[in-house]
Amino acid sequence: MSALTDLNKDIALCRQCEIAKTRTMSVPGEGAENAEIMFIGEAPGWNEDQQGRPFIGAAGQFLDELLASIKLKRSQVYIANVIKCRPPGNRDPLPTEIANCQHWLDKQIELISPKIIVTLGRYSMAKFFPGKTISKIHGTAQTRDGIMYFAMYHPAAALHQGNLRQTLKEDMLKLPLLLAQAKTAKIKEEVKTEVKVAIEPKTEPPPQQLSMF
Ligand code: URA
Repeated sequence: MSALTDLNKDIALCRQCEIAKTRTMSVPGEGAENAEIMFIGEAPGWNEDQQGRPFIGAAGQFLDELLASIKLKRSQVYIANVIKCRPPGNRDPLPTEIANCQHWLDKQIELISPKIIVTLGRYSMAKFFPGKTISKIHGTAQTRDGIMYFAMYHPAAALHQGNLRQTLKEDMLKLPLLLAQAKTAKIKEEVKTEVKVAIEPKTEPPPQQLSMF
């Protein structure tokens, strides 16, 4: 069994927050374990809570459409959320819930090791682009420590504000080029590291004391 499957089993059993009492199922995440692109939403909604799978309601259908527009299926990417249990009545996640859940998401990112993390909505953006505003930074990317972060509106936002549908579509179309750039940057970084290792002077063993006899 893979480390990610093990981790997701532990996530499914987590009872750290009060909302573990009201959930039907926790929603660890799903997709390709070696995905190059990882999408991170906010929190499970009613449908996700029922089935233990992320983005399977109306917002998820739109996400599937957006993925199809760049010739991707959800099985080729990884989809997770900032918090893994549904807040009752779909209220916003509490800071304590986000803090409690953080180590699960961090470990998922470490195991999947994506080239790009796409933040969906404000809560996900706040983790990776602290202090920024979604209306200003959606559709833009930042690279840190070998991972590119790309901010998008939450697909559910387009269900309430029709004009965001087009914005989300346009932002999604930027992903293939960004992925190509992220991969090239990673290869360059690896080559740089290899060259550095190769020219690192070898440490000579200490000279032997010459014996006269
Ligand atoms: N909204 C989210 O942020 N995540 C889901 O899984 C579903 C809806």
